[in-house]
Amino acid sequence: MRKTAMVTGGAGFIGSAVCRYLIGETDYDVVNLDLLTYAGDLRSLDSIKSNPRFSTIQGDIGDSELVGETLQRHRPSIILHLAAESHVDRSIDGAAPFIETNIVGTFRLLEAVRTYWSALAAAEQTEFRFLHVSTDEVYGTLGDDGLFSETTPYSPNSPYSASKAASDHLVNAWHHTYGLPIVISNCSNNYGPFQFPEKLIPRMVTTALEHGSLPVYGAGNNVRDWLHVDDHASALWLVATKGRLGEKYNIGGRNERRNVDVVRTICSLLDELGPPAPQGGYESLITYVTDRLGHDHRYAIDATKIETELGWKAKYDFDQGLRATILWYLSNEWWWRPHKDAAEALYKAKAN
Ligand code: NAD
Ligand code: DAU
Repeated sequence: MRKTAMVTGGAGFIGSAVCRYLIGETDYDVVNLDLLTYAGDLRSLDSIKSNPRFSTIQGDIGDSELVGETLQRHRPSIILHLAAESHVDRSIDGAAPFIETNIVGTFRLLEAVRTYWSALAAAEQTEFRFLHVSTDEVYGTLGDDGLFSETTPYSPNSPYSASKAASDHLVNAWHHTYGLPIVISNCSNNYGPFQFPEKLIPRMVTTALEHGSLPVYGAGNNVRDWLHVDDHASALWLVATKGRLGEKYNIGGRNERRNVDVVRTICSLLDELGPPAPQGGYESLITYVTDRLGHDHRYAIDATKIETELGWKAKYDFDQGLRATILWYLSNEWWWRPHKDAAEALYKAKAN
């Protein structure tokens, strides 16, 4: 019998990679529930949109009636919950949508899923799992040493990370109180194709192509731990299908880099691969700007649990993955150009 996976947020950066992965690498039917906010783009799903195993429903995870109907119609045996407001700088400017989607939306989704799952259990159809996709930012910030493990206490610092931490707690509570069969993943910074150009790597690449200044926050010494989005997608499927229920799994590629070093690498790759550089090379575009409020210093993931328990390993080397990502942005301006002004509008509003 054919099985169905439901993805929330499948028109976003990571969700679209997950949908492409599921259609390419599994035999599941896939139904994507996405509100199509500014961050959702159906064009990211062009390569699978005509596949009869794939469908998209436009709607809100917080719309209990729609979610209930979708569950009844498609009867998924697995849900991968990615829908969220995802950008830290936006959460600093206005937290309301983050509270509404990440916390209230996840709560409503959990309730609709609980009703669906209870009916499945009553009919003795016990095959069901719910994966909540979360972030390493729930752990707060590291100093220069140490790694986040699954037992690191939660200490979120931004409105975004606080809303994700709250959603993790809700998902855990629905497991402990009602027995909902859940797993949680906490991943580090993703990069790759189809990432909205508000985020560091695509912002720097697309701005450099316009010979605009490349705004590095503070001194650029903050450290992020980078993972290619396709490595994240494969990890998510493993955790969703094989992870122990009630457990959480950290996901990361052991690729720590200072922000300024990432931006410098992008510049030297553009010198090599891109259109003619401004005088002084792309690096001359780097500008140090006012730091992000409450900027977490360093994130770094200890991925031992997923590696040893589930046998997952990241495939992409960061430098090769970054080169491939830059080549993708160079040849896919049709995708990012329509988003560029909206992405920069956020930052212009901040500057004024
Ligand atoms: P994104 O902003 O690119 O995409 C979010 C998607 O969710 C969009 O398609 C949007 O339309 C949809 N969405 C937003 N609100 C919705 C709602 N109320 N109902 C239905 N759909 C809604 O985000 P992303 O970077 O792909 O992140 C996906 C998930 O992974 C998020 O939960 C995020 O917290 C988590 N995560 C992201 C990263 C990262 O580096 N980007 C790392 C770790 C975890
Ligand atoms: O760690 C996982 C998280 O990674 C995810 O949960 C979030 O959804 C995702 O957005 C990402 O959060 P960050 O805040 O780390 O990503 P961002 O791309 O916004 O910024 C990366 C780093 O670069 C951060 O230290 C801030 C800095 N930065 C960012 C921008 C946009 C700059 O210096 N200049 C910039 O213009």
